[in-house]
Amino acid sequence: MATIRRLDILRIRNLSEVQIRPVNTVNIISGNNGSGKTSLLEAIYMLGLGRSFRSQKLEPVISTDSDDCVIFAELQDGISIGLNKSRKKGHILKLLGERQKSWVETARQLPMQIINSDSFLLLEGSPKIRRRFLDWGVFHVEHEFAQAWRKATKCLAQRNLLLKQRRLDRMQLCAWDEEFATQGELIDGFRQQYLSQFLPILNTALPRLIDLPDLSIQYERGWDNGLGLKESLVSSLERDIKYGATQVGPHRADLSIKIGRHGASEVLSRGQQKLLVSAMKIAQSQLLFSLTDEKGLYLIDDLPSELDAANRVLICRLLEELDCQIFITCVDAGELEKCWSADVSSGKFHVEHGKIVGLGNS
Ligand SMILES: Nc1ncnc2c1ncn2[C@@H]1O[C@H](COP(=O)(O)OP(=O)(O)OP(=O)(O)O)[C@@H](O)[C@H]1O
Ligand SMILES: [Mg+2]
Repeated sequence: MATIRRLDILRIRNLSEVQIRPVNTVNIISGNNGSGKTSLLEAIYMLGLGRSFRSQKLEPVISTDSDDCVIFAELQDGISIGLNKSRKKGHILKLLGERQKSWVETARQLPMQIINSDSFLLLEGSPKIRRRFLDWGVFHVEHEFAQAWRKATKCLAQRNLLLKQRRLDRMQLCAWDEEFATQGELIDGFRQQYLSQFLPILNTALPRLIDLPDLSIQYERGWDNGLGLKESLVSSLERDIKYGATQVGPHRADLSIKIGRHGASEVLSRGQQKLLVSAMKIAQSQLLFSLTDEKGLYLIDDLPSELDAANRVLICRLLEELDCQIFITCVDAGELEKCWSADVSSGKFHVEHGKIVGLGNS
């Protein structure tokens, strides 16, 4: 169960030493600009996914003048996750006190979604962002996905290395193609299966936030629909050699999100984009819960930006129906007070210059 009972953060940005005991429903984190609200969400996100959502690099995340940072969480069912990231020595990740080589098992414990002012990138950003969105869902409902993905990534790296060599070793290429095609087809199958379950759920969630009758979401698998991946690799070989990189495969998949004939980001307002993306992220947790009984965990930064009061309420009501743990920030706690139903319990925290005070539960 993805519910954080206790959270310790050391040396993340301006949070030098913070300990909180969140409630398992809505946690409202208020504070002035620059107080440390987003940094708190960033720490939780890093624990679940190993990276920050606002910086590719670790450098700016660790507090200035410190060499490392630590994040530790105790989850509902006694599971503990600890992460130490050091500027010089890499990272140590522990699940239940045992050192982890990969993020797979910890990520499974914390199916985390973030809604923030970058969320519109799901519509406007690169295909990689949409693949990440899709694969988040596939990863959490299809346990064989992670292994297929790892194998495909290894094949792809080897294949690209070969393509860059002056004399192409066709025998070796053929061997990598074989495995890459097997894993790629597997990944594609998982993604298609996931989307066939996800889209009907989205179609129910979306009208609760916004009416978009002309919305279409089409999956593009990354190679010609009429061909198997192995045949596509053969027919794309000249192009692959020219670019020194594989042009077809699951790493080129995308979701085409349109309103009528136009890309959604070209016609929807910023607020409408945020509603669509929020519905997509909420629908993912609804599906996760229906398939696995697992509840997602939501990090919501600066909900009011781009949303009017009525739409904030709509998002919060949809979120509260998920009955999952939510961390939501705002400058003034009053901004979010009327967004929740009267019977939803919440924990309130106030951040001031990197220190967090609990304001009690209600
Ligand atoms: N590596 C770092 N070391 C120390 N402080 C940092 C570091 N990186 C950023 N900061 C500072 O941490 C503070 C907290 O930033 P954060 O983004 O969490 O604020 P916030 O409460 O979300 O503000 P806002 O309401 O403006 O979004 C800021 O004052 C920022 O300048
Ligand atoms: Mg912030």
